[in-house]
Amino acid sequence: MSGDIYQQRRARLSKEIGSAGVAILAAGPECIRYRDVHYPYRPDSDLRYLCGFPEPESILVLAPGREDGECLLFCRPRDPERELWDGRRAGVSGAVQQYGVDEAFPIAEFEQRLPDLLDGREQVFLALARHSSVQKQVMRAINALKQQQRRGLIAPHAVLDLEDALHDMRLRKQPEEIALMRRAAEVSAAAHCRAMRSCRAGMMEYQIAAEVHHELERNGMTPAYGSIVGGGANACVLHYIENTDELRDGDLLLIDAGAECEGYCADITRTFPVNGRFSGPQKALYEVVLKAQLDAIAAARPGADWNAPHRAAVAALTEGLMALGLLQGSSAAELIESEAYKRFYMHSTGHWLGMDVHDVGAYKVDGQWRPLEAGMVLTIEPGLYIAPDSEGVDPAFLGIGIRIEDDVLITETGNEVLTSGVPKAVADIEALMAAAA
Ligand code: GLY
Ligand code: MN
Ligand code: MN
Repeated sequence: MSGDIYQQRRARLSKEIGSAGVAILAAGPECIRYRDVHYPYRPDSDLRYLCGFPEPESILVLAPGREDGECLLFCRPRDPERELWDGRRAGVSGAVQQYGVDEAFPIAEFEQRLPDLLDGREQVFLALARHSSVQKQVMRAINALKQQQRRGLIAPHAVLDLEDALHDMRLRKQPEEIALMRRAAEVSAAAHCRAMRSCRAGMMEYQIAAEVHHELERNGMTPAYGSIVGGGANACVLHYIENTDELRDGDLLLIDAGAECEGYCADITRTFPVNGRFSGPQKALYEVVLKAQLDAIAAARPGADWNAPHRAAVAALTEGLMALGLLQGSSAAELIESEAYKRFYMHSTGHWLGMDVHDVGAYKVDGQWRPLEAGMVLTIEPGLYIAPDSEGVDPAFLGIGIRIEDDVLITETGNEVLTSGVPKAVADIEALMAAAA
C-alpha cells in the first residue's frame, strides 16, 4: 500500500479528533510461547492501518496541528546485536524514511516525552482498555501536567475511546483494501478446492489442514486464524482446532480456513463428503443450510440492516428443520419467535471481515442494527449442528455438522461474493471430487 494512503487516513482521523485532541495507538510486545521462544508476531491492525509499521513495541501519536510534525512514532531503536539474532528493525531514522512519519523516537523515550505531547490538549484518544501499560503512562503524564498548572501547563480533561472513529473508517474498505481481500479470498478458495480434491477416507484431519496451508503458504500467505478441519461429529464442535482424528468413509468434513494477505483476511467454510458422495440425510440437511446461505446473501444489500441476512437464514433454517421433522411446532413464525432453532443453530450468521477476521466496526448505531453500505465486507455463514447425543432426533441426522461460509462485499447495487471460487452446490462439489478420484 502506498504512503499516500496512510497519509490520507491519518488526515481523516486527525480531522475527527480535532486540534484539541491527541491520539495514541500502541502495538504490544511479542508474546512468549515458552522460555526464549516467541509466538510469530502479528502486527497491530490499527497501527498498521494508519502508518503500515509492522514492528512490536511501537506507539503512534497523532497530534493535529503540532508544529514539529503531527505524526510521531516511538519504536525500537536499531541494535546490531539484537538484529543479528531476531531480525532487522527500521529504527528511528528508518521509521521516518520508510514509513513517512514526521518524527520518530526510541520507545524508551515515550513516557518522558508524553507530558509535552499532552500539554494544552483537551482530550486524549486511546484504544480504551487495550494496552494497560500505555493507559497508566497517560494517567501519570496527566497527573504530572496537573501538578505543574501554576507553571502554565494544561492537562487534558478527558480520555476518550479512539476506536469509534478509527473503526468506522476501517469498516468501509477502500479499493486497495478490497484488492487485497479479493486476493486472500481467491487463494483461500483454491486451498479449499485442493482440500476437496485431496480428501480420502483414512487420511488424518491434519493432513488435509496441511494441504490447505501449503496452498496458502506457497502463495506467500499465512492462515488468518486457527484452521478448523473437523470430520464427522467434530464438525459439531464450533471451534474444533485439534485436527487430530482420522477421516471416515461416510462422514462429512467441515473445513473453516482462510488466508491472510498483507494484513487482510479471508474466512471460508465448506462442508463436503469424505468419500465424495453425500448420503441422503447429509444431502437433505446440507440443502437446508445452502438455501439459508443463499437467502442470507440475497438479503445482504445496501440499505438493508446488519441483521437482515441473519433473519433470512433463521427463517430458511427453521422451515427446513420443520420439513425434515427436526423441529415440531404449529408454524415457522412461532418457532422463530421461541428461538427453537438455537438448539441446532447457536451462532450468528456473520461478522465484519477485514484486517481482523472478526473485524472492527459497530453492529448497531443509535441502538438500531446498522444499515449495510457499499464497501463493507461481511461473512455469511449459517450452519446446522446435530450433536451426536441430541435427544428425540432421527438417528440418521445424529453427528452431522454443516456450515457454509462466504465473504461478501456490499456493492452499490447489491453484493459480490468474493469467495465464489470454491463450489458449494452438491452437484458441483461431487463433480470436483469425482474428477480428482
Ligand atoms: N473462522 C472464524 C469464523 O468463522 O467466525
Ligand atoms: Mn467467519
Ligand atoms: Mn470461518
